[in-house]
Amino acid sequence: MPLVTSKEILLTALENHFAVGAFNANNMEQIQAIVEAAQEERAPVILQVSQGAIRYAGLEFAAGLVKTAASLVDIPVVLHLDHGYDFDQNVRCLRAGFTSLMYDGSKKPYEENVATTKRIVEIAHIAGIPVEAELGQVAKSTDDLSYEEICALMTDPHQAKEFVETTGIDSLAVACGSVHAMKTQAAELDIERLKAIHEQIPNTPLVLHGSSGVKPESLVEGIQHGICKINVATYLNQAFTRGMKEGLVKYAGSVDPRKPLALSREYVKEAVREKIQLFKSAGVIDSSGGFRSPPKQFRSAELGAAE
Ligand code: G3H
Ligand code: ZN
Repeated sequence: MPLVTSKEILLTALENHFAVGAFNANNMEQIQAIVEAAQEERAPVILQVSQGAIRYAGLEFAAGLVKTAASLVDIPVVLHLDHGYDFDQNVRCLRAGFTSLMYDGSKKPYEENVATTKRIVEIAHIAGIPVEAELGQVAKSTDDLSYEEICALMTDPHQAKEFVETTGIDSLAVACGSVHAMKTQAAELDIERLKAIHEQIPNTPLVLHGSSGVKPESLVEGIQHGICKINVATYLNQAFTRGMKEGLVKYAGSVDPRKPLALSREYVKEAVREKIQLFKSAGVIDSSGGFRSPPKQFRSAELGAAE
């Protein structure tokens, strides 16, 4: 299928209490693994290109790989810019065929974050492309912050409402307890804060960054309070490097790099499948590539209830 935008799939997720996996990809094997897992699980999927991936593979190359992968399957696939750092880069991605953008002005003064986000939204919406922006800051594990410092960077619910209304963004990345690039699943989301944010902006899909370090049960709870897009990078990189390390030992006598790479691809595919099931987005896409109508069993009175 041709790429789709993130607009409809995130609103469907919001209404039906599941989350769409947004998986970071740096190379062909990771992209194949993500799309194949989503296809087999009948889940919509977002492939996102980070700043590191753009430096590594190049924007056009990454976009081309994702478009090709999407053309081979019959589930909705989105090509998303992750942590776009300025107006120009967002415009370059628009031109390269990205179907979802992000501007991350979270470290900038509030007024500057608002002004740049607004400019990007204006131009992206003319092209029919939705925009994610961030308010509050999701720190990195290497920043080595104390718990108090992490709390001080969390999203303010009232400011979130003002930010969404002023900028016109389509989804909001929130800081509510996760930290980028954690290698163990030890963090818990601040559910009370998440509830307060969701209450202020009930029609705006919320985005969770830094999910690799969050306990699975906390992710599931977050989905019940407005989290509709969950970004996963480190967890997949761990699976990929495990495959490389094991593959180099297993095929020590071979000079064929495809052997360890194929093992990495298999491990990433399993990791993606696990996340899709956890996020309750498995099985929401029918055989024609559209959402099941009603999308599944998520209209249950009990939020997040599964079959
Ligand atoms: O933007 C990407 C993500 O927030 C991924 O974070 O590496 O902790 O999963 P992660
Ligand atoms: Zn992130």
